[in-house]
Amino acid sequence: MPRVSTAFFTIAALCGLAGMVWGSQMGASGDHSLHPAHAHLNLVGWVTLSIMGGFYALPGGPKAGVLSWVNLALSSVGAVLMAALLPQVLMQKMSGQIMIAAEVPTILGMICFLISVISSWRRPVA
Ligand code: HEM
Ligand code: HEM
Repeated sequence: MPRVSTAFFTIAALCGLAGMVWGSQMGASGDHSLHPAHAHLNLVGWVTLSIMGGFYALPGGPKAGVLSWVNLALSSVGAVLMAALLPQVLMQKMSGQIMIAAEVPTILGMICFLISVISSWRRPVA
């Protein structure tokens, strides 16, 4: 497996673990008010990063070059910022405008991923 996929899965699993502990804490406390932040840590962190890491490990897939590492950096920063900033917005300690700081890297990461997927069309069918 390429190093970049190991890095994707490492960060994904850390997000998944943190998201599950957070979910358990919500369940135990009965306070579900931060559930959108829990949901996005799991969905943008655990699920999305895992899919991306899996793609770069596919046999005959794209070369795990610089673009895959830029993808990793942007998508990971986006997931972590989403989990860190969304609770502040939900607790009305910050304006919703701050979420752009998480959205921009998350979306740019997905654009990198899309470019990697599209570039695979040029490779011969395995
Ligand atoms: C130990 C594991 C987990 C626990 C204990 C847990 C717990 C919770 C709790 C208590 C809520 C709030 C429910 C509500 O108020 O309606 C919630 C919402 C949510 N969780 Fe988790 N969760 C876990 C794992 C996950 C994972 C792995 C994912 C995604 C891959 C996920 C995705 C979501 C989503 C999308 C919502 C929002 C659902 C909605 O808007 O109705 N959770 N979770
Ligand atoms: C830049 C990335 C994203 C942004 C800005 C975003 C934004 C939002 C917003 C504003 C909501 C409504 C929350 C509410 O009404 O409380 C929402 C809900 C939801 N989103 Fe996202 N989202 C993003 C990425 C994703 C991804 C990648 C997934 C799945 C893989 C996802 C799954 C969901 C689900 C299941 C809900 C409903 C659960 C909830 O209420 O928390 N989102 N999202």
